[in-house]
Amino acid sequence: MSRNGLIVVVVIAVAVIVSIYVTFGRGSSNNASPTPTSSVATTLPSSDLASHGAVLFTQYRCNICHTTNGERAAGPTLAGLYGNNVTLDTGQTIVADEAYLRQSILDPDSQIVSGYGPSVMSAALADFTTQLNQGDTIAALVAYIESLK
Ligand code: HEC
Repeated sequence: MSRNGLIVVVVIAVAVIVSIYVTFGRGSSNNASPTPTSSVATTLPSSDLASHGAVLFTQYRCNICHTTNGERAAGPTLAGLYGNNVTLDTGQTIVADEAYLRQSILDPDSQIVSGYGPSVMSAALADFTTQLNQGDTIAALVAYIESLK
């Protein structure tokens, strides 16, 4: 095929793809109800402090052990944790309030979630002890976890 012939074929192919998109793509997004969009919006961090916490959550590698989608990993998921009941390995049930979240991060081995072991989190965070106790780091992480409804 000549070079010009190839260009014509490519132009036609692009025109077909664009017209398919315009016909079906736009139509289907118009039909979609607004509900899925609004449920995505509510999972986004609601304040600047929480958005800062989301960045720190990756920076301090919390995300390696904790999911935010409800799935179990090396540590418990943090989705829906705030305000809910947590069973500790002592058998005691406590409410995950702000004080509990702070203590779980700054002193992980002081309370162990039932079904998990001690030392795992504290060992991983040993390098970050100074940073975790500085400025608004802990407040940002807690605000982020609170935003994970
Ligand atoms: C190496 C894996 C690991 C890393 C990294 C880690 N954690 Fe954990 N985390 C755990 C494990 C295991 C538990 C459960 C045992 C316990 O209670 O300490 C836990 C428990 C928690 C809890 C209590 C959860 C509950 O259901 O009550 C919170 C909150 C938490 N981690 C936050 C964090 C934050 C924030 C970071 C980052 C600064 C972090 N973790 C980093 C493994 C980890």
